[in-house]
Amino acid sequence: MIEIQLVDKTFQLFIPNSSILDKIEELAQQINKAYSGQQLEILVLLDGAKMFADAIMPRFEFNYNAHYQQVKSYQGMHSVGAIQFDRQLLNQFRGKNLLILEDIVDTGNTLKQLSEVLLAQNLEQLAIATLLYKPLQLKHPIPLNFIGFEIGPEFVVGFGMDYNECGRELKDIYHLKSQ
Ligand code: IMP
Ligand code: MG
Repeated sequence: MIEIQLVDKTFQLFIPNSSILDKIEELAQQINKAYSGQQLEILVLLDGAKMFADAIMPRFEFNYNAHYQQVKSYQGMHSVGAIQFDRQLLNQFRGKNLLILEDIVDTGNTLKQLSEVLLAQNLEQLAIATLLYKPLQLKHPIPLNFIGFEIGPEFVVGFGMDYNECGRELKDIYHLKSQ
């Protein structure tokens, strides 16, 4: 089993890059079907969703504008509650058809808080695509329109996701080694 060490933790290979790319192709097809002929605004949540966005957006066959927003809610392996983001940027989506690209939905806290601000903008439509989803961790129900992998509650890194800013650049996804 392939293992890596990040800071004080050991991680094991979980989802290889080829499976991630196959899943992204599947998601792209679903999203293309849903938005065929439409004009979309895409909001990429940084830093985590950057690799996901870079891989999936070139596969889109409809017209879109991409926007990038830094959102932070995690320290180490724990969600810290209040999220930080630029409210001004979110104003520009008034009346628009918006798709959020997220790396992973854990408690749902980040997307719940963002959705509340966005829905106050009277969007035409709001949809969420996430590469990973941890259903057992969800505390704030939010509608997820496009889901890549449903996984257990274990912490993951790689393909954009970090542990204390380490491991984002890994091309595969790893999970915490069980003790
Ligand atoms: P939530 O607000 O609890 O749903 O957490 C969402 C954010 O926390 C994601 O956008 C990630 O950036 C981060 N996150 C949640 N779970 C993990 C994980 O297992 N590894 C790395 N980052 C995570
Ligand atoms: Mg994220």
